[in-house]
Amino acid sequence: MALERIKTGIPGLDEKIEGGFEKGSVITVLGGPGAGKSIMGMQFLHYGAKNGENVLYYSFEESKEDIIRDMEAIGLDPYELIKQNKLNIISASPIDFEYLPIIDSIKTNNIKRLVIDSLSTISMYFENNSKFRRFLLDLVSSLKELGVTTIMTDEQSQGTGENEIMFFSGEYLSDAVIKLYYTGLGGEYDRSMQIIKMRRTNNERSVIPMKIDKGGIYLK
Ligand SMILES: Nc1ncnc2c1ncn2[C@@H]1O[C@H](COP(=O)(O)OP(=O)(O)OP(=O)(O)O)[C@@H](O)[C@H]1O
Ligand SMILES: [Mg+2]
Repeated sequence: MALERIKTGIPGLDEKIEGGFEKGSVITVLGGPGAGKSIMGMQFLHYGAKNGENVLYYSFEESKEDIIRDMEAIGLDPYELIKQNKLNIISASPIDFEYLPIIDSIKTNNIKRLVIDSLSTISMYFENNSKFRRFLLDLVSSLKELGVTTIMTDEQSQGTGENEIMFFSGEYLSDAVIKLYYTGLGGEYDRSMQIIKMRRTNNERSVIPMKIDKGGIYLK
């Protein structure tokens, strides 16, 4: 059976990954502060909602108001999509976090695209690594069953710091891992994207220069 792909909503990305994300796949977007993880998620969802899909932004980091403001800053207009119940935004507390409400919300609202922002925030509230790992396994397998295409953002320091080994991240469980880099030094590679892995896809391997401006993220 031919693999079904959906457009990412990030200009320049689809042609680097054989046309888009695999439908129903789970994608981890890694990067340091300000690298563009949340914006990438917002564009991915906005594109789907604009094209008739129901989408859900599940944030543990920002209020709904801030998310709406972030979207407006990159030229997206969320209001109409929210009114039509196409774009759903939930701002939740990571304390005593349960994943079942996410699953319920996906089912009730027939969600096709999901963003979870961020794994690192949730992980801080787990007693230990194995509990977090167990949670991630359950979450990812539920999302797969539901066939919802998901971006999970995850913070990562630029170097190989100790927090990278301390906490198990979603990288091994996800179908795809995309890294966003931000040097803050200016120049062509001030911002860039690298597709670390994408199962079943002949993806671009090299580091791709990226921009964020009032039109959002795009690849150069
Ligand atoms: N309109 C804009 N024009 C230019 N750059 C912008 C614009 N809007 C946002 N940015 C850039 O995007 C960055 C924020 O991106 P985003 O919120 O997606 O980062 P993040 O990876 O989610 O960071 P964090 O880990 O802190 O949540 C800002 O720091 C800013 O540099
Ligand atoms: Mg963010």
